[in-house]
Amino acid sequence: MKTAEQLAERFPRDDEIPDECRILAPIHQRTILINGEMQIWGGETRAVYSPVCVRGADGSLSHVELGSFPVTGTAEADAALAAAVSACNNGRGNWPTMPVAERIACVGNFTNQILAHRREIVNLIMWEIGKSLADSQKEFDRTIAYIRATVDELKRLDNRNSRFEIADGTIAQIRRSPLGIALCMGPYNYPMNETFSTLIPALIMGNVVLFKPPRFGVLLYYPMLEAFRSAFPPGVINIVYGEGHVVVPHIMASGQVNVLALIGSSTVANQLKKAHPKTNRLRAILGLEAKNAAIVMPDADIELAVRECITGTLSFNGQRCTAIKMILVHQSIAELFIRRFCVEVGKLAIGMPWEPGVVLTPLPEMAMVTYMNECIADAVAKGAKVINPGGGTTVETLFYPAVLYPVLAGMKLYREEQFGPIIPVTPFETIEAALDYVITSDHGQQVSIFGSNPEQIAALVDTLVNQVCRVNINCQCQRGPDVFPFVGRKDSAEGTLSVHDALRAFSIRTMVAAKQTEASKKLLDAIVLGNKSSFINTHFIL
Ligand code: G3H
Repeated sequence: MKTAEQLAERFPRDDEIPDECRILAPIHQRTILINGEMQIWGGETRAVYSPVCVRGADGSLSHVELGSFPVTGTAEADAALAAAVSACNNGRGNWPTMPVAERIACVGNFTNQILAHRREIVNLIMWEIGKSLADSQKEFDRTIAYIRATVDELKRLDNRNSRFEIADGTIAQIRRSPLGIALCMGPYNYPMNETFSTLIPALIMGNVVLFKPPRFGVLLYYPMLEAFRSAFPPGVINIVYGEGHVVVPHIMASGQVNVLALIGSSTVANQLKKAHPKTNRLRAILGLEAKNAAIVMPDADIELAVRECITGTLSFNGQRCTAIKMILVHQSIAELFIRRFCVEVGKLAIGMPWEPGVVLTPLPEMAMVTYMNECIADAVAKGAKVINPGGGTTVETLFYPAVLYPVLAGMKLYREEQFGPIIPVTPFETIEAALDYVITSDHGQQVSIFGSNPEQIAALVDTLVNQVCRVNINCQCQRGPDVFPFVGRKDSAEGTLSVHDALRAFSIRTMVAAKQTEASKKLLDAIVLGNKSSFINTHFIL
């Protein structure tokens, strides 16, 4: 149980912030990276405030100021696009034609440079979005591991394609070529990792990239600007700031973007796709809303199910696209499950992101807190109850998790993706009723099932694998390990991401073919032996 007074006390006085976690001075970013140059920005800027508040001597709470960043407009978007178009040069640019080994070297250089800024970047993730220090460190390290795995996978891919194939009198070399210009946008909840999970594969496959940082999590890119500038040729990576709803549709309307990589909302994705005048030229790689369910069967190991559902619903305050956002529990064990679940919720530490062991931290903006309260009010008005003591207590950005039961059709929480610390629970009587919830959902990312009867689990799996793209047995939903496919059906995703699949998503199979004749052999030999082409070659990358 947490009272409002107890929550308010969780916010520190300024002198209680540990020195090693402080942002030493606000970062007022006045440079933008376009065409390999740090251009000085003298226009509009936006202040960045942390979700973390400090308590004044009079008890008042004020958000910590972190700095400010440029709010660039359509003119700068045009400049970034022009730089990208020129660097791409219709696929004839230095970058798209560069040998794979050289592109890998650029990415390696970039990685080494950002590693030197780990502490600063981790701190900015923590302060900008309120993610715990431990999870912010994990996000950084997971990103570096993802980049390294991507490099290894590309080497494997390229080495496999470094040979000629002969079929039916045709000699061919088949490789993967870049698509052109990629626009990459990630979400605020994984502002570094999810952005890099598209940006790095896009770059390393030879695409030129325009990148817009998420709404929260802009300043954390500031320490990376120099690495972006110096590791890649001019124009290969250009960063766009400002109002997303103004600059991004403007860029799309140019018709120059070949790949849209967006992890965010379907509303935005649909608008952007429609803004592109030549839809056939646009490939979309989208990670969108999800409403992953947990189905707890009567014979489930309750302690295990509770443990996994706690992590599944409340890691990073439930702000994960893969979070469990609805728990369906068999009515015969509903009372026991809920009781145990609420006890465990009560044990979770709520506080400031740097506190060891903290799980629940401030939400990034007050609008989210308002939305959480609207969801609760709607469910309560329609017959649900907040069943954990103190659930929904709010002080500024600290929101104590609320477990709601029973959440039924017609309530917002039944179908909407709450993306925050609210846990809707609903009872089910028959397996068919639980399956029906998933089948009739607009979303189709993942599901978790908890139970021990092999026949029942098998029957559930066989239905659910045609509804979602990952069925988790006796464990929470999650994206990782990153070598596994991250994908969804229905309105949850378009395209597949994994270390391997992302390289495919940002490239296209392209081949060079010739008749199987002596003359062809002679010509191809001359090209290969004379080292004349980046595409036609049999180089091996170590
Ligand atoms: O927000 C969506 C993330 O991709 C979730 O990743 O399941 O590893 O936390 P995660």
